[in-house]
Amino acid sequence: MPPVPPVPQADRTRPFSAESRDETAALLTKALQLGLDFKLQPEVFRERVPSAEARDRLVTELPERPASVDEALAEFTDTMLPLCKNEASPQFLGFGDTGDDVGALTGGVLALLTQQNLINQSFDSPSATFVETTALRWLRELIGFTNPPVGELSTVFDVGGVITHGGTMSNSLAMMLAREHKVPGTMEHGVRDPGQYSIVVPRDIGHYSVKSALKWIGLGYQVIEVDTDGFRYDLKALERTLREHAGRVMSVVAYAGDSRTQTVDDLRGVRDVVRAADEDIWLHADACWGLLCSFSDALRGRIAGIEDYDSVTVDPHKVMGVPHSLGAILVRDPAALRAISSHSGLIMGDDFDFGQVTPFVGTKAWLSLKLWMMMRTHGRSGLARLAEDRVGTARRFADLVDARSRLIRLHPVDMMAVTFMYVPADVDVTAPDIERINEANLRIHERMLADGIWHLHHFGLPDDAGVLKYGATLYPMRFMAANPRIEEHHMTGVLDYVLALGAQFDEGQL
Ligand SMILES: Cc1ncc(COP(=O)(O)O)c(C=O)c1O
Repeated sequence: MPPVPPVPQADRTRPFSAESRDETAALLTKALQLGLDFKLQPEVFRERVPSAEARDRLVTELPERPASVDEALAEFTDTMLPLCKNEASPQFLGFGDTGDDVGALTGGVLALLTQQNLINQSFDSPSATFVETTALRWLRELIGFTNPPVGELSTVFDVGGVITHGGTMSNSLAMMLAREHKVPGTMEHGVRDPGQYSIVVPRDIGHYSVKSALKWIGLGYQVIEVDTDGFRYDLKALERTLREHAGRVMSVVAYAGDSRTQTVDDLRGVRDVVRAADEDIWLHADACWGLLCSFSDALRGRIAGIEDYDSVTVDPHKVMGVPHSLGAILVRDPAALRAISSHSGLIMGDDFDFGQVTPFVGTKAWLSLKLWMMMRTHGRSGLARLAEDRVGTARRFADLVDARSRLIRLHPVDMMAVTFMYVPADVDVTAPDIERINEANLRIHERMLADGIWHLHHFGLPDDAGVLKYGATLYPMRFMAANPRIEEHHMTGVLDYVLALGAQFDEGQL
């Protein structure tokens, strides 16, 4: 191989030190400004290209010659940023949170710069561990779980929760807890007779993560689906199922806000049916969305009963303006986490080392600083306002949908989601042609994605409330009131856009 020519000193990026502090600060300031201006760009996408074209533009070999950070930033700005999705655009109306809370963003930056490692408390994260503990206790309080007095916090097994990368990981830990509760020691001895580890979920509306979790933790696909009514468990069907599968069910999973319509299960009703059938079944509530209701006295009643569940998944990156990624699993009895703990004297042998209760994770970033900053800067009253504003926005959008004769709403508004469909002019809603309605909505959404101006979510959904045809699979669009920049004209604007595309479909031009 020919010798590699040395890199001139001027082209080298200096390591961070007192001498390069100002230069580094200037670069980081530039990066911050780039990021903030990106969030303020009006468009969701500045440029749309097919995936293969994005691949061909961006997948490169490792260059021989180093680039300065300035050069790399220029490359980022020119080639990557124009294709990035901007969730902060008030025209992004279809999914969860936009991650724009200023306190949370500040916490995220400081977590990067302080480089604490929560695997270990004493030498790796002397203060961060207790900030994480505090954030978890605040979440527990909101959900209605009791916390031991601070003086009685002696180990991580008194905290009652784990910060995770999101709902999928939290639900996976919940399934591990359920497994150990059903057959203590499975973690040590392995799985025998997988059928005894079955879980019960609501048919077609449960989130895939609990099903995937069963596979990831070696239990196989032990899933029993129960009929629903109005996007909630049909409690009679649940009762029947638990009777039929007596002794084989390790967990019942209920949704405090399903992934599509954000309908909240009758959590007390589910609890009563499950406890009456078998006291030992692990009750898990997925409150990725439902956490929002816990912020406000006016909304808390919707998740009443959640405090009696054995574990609860919450997802601050979905409902609190906290940037990706940040979820948590909370357990009613803090000591329950002992069942899935592991230990190594090498790095996580001390009482407060979170490494003991974080399956699949070793080195652990200070994710929770974002959450602590958000909650500290909002306080209880600010959280209540945030939740009520979002639900109020969703209700307003629902009214706007209802006022347009060519649009039909598929469910009552429990939280921030409003799922609706365009009905083509030639369809009679009293005897609806579901295929044609679905086709119109698929086409409208395809065009919306290609245009990149507005964003609504789109998915398959059973018509569980019988709005068009009970049980039919519909492909609606969804508005989500999770973007704090949404104003009335954005809501009317996106509806005008959908109706204009609908009219094009009616004329055979879409
Ligand atoms: C109800 C529910 N549970 C779990 C998840 C998974 O969460 P995450 O994407 O944070 O892993 C989602 C995601 O949309 C969800 O809607």
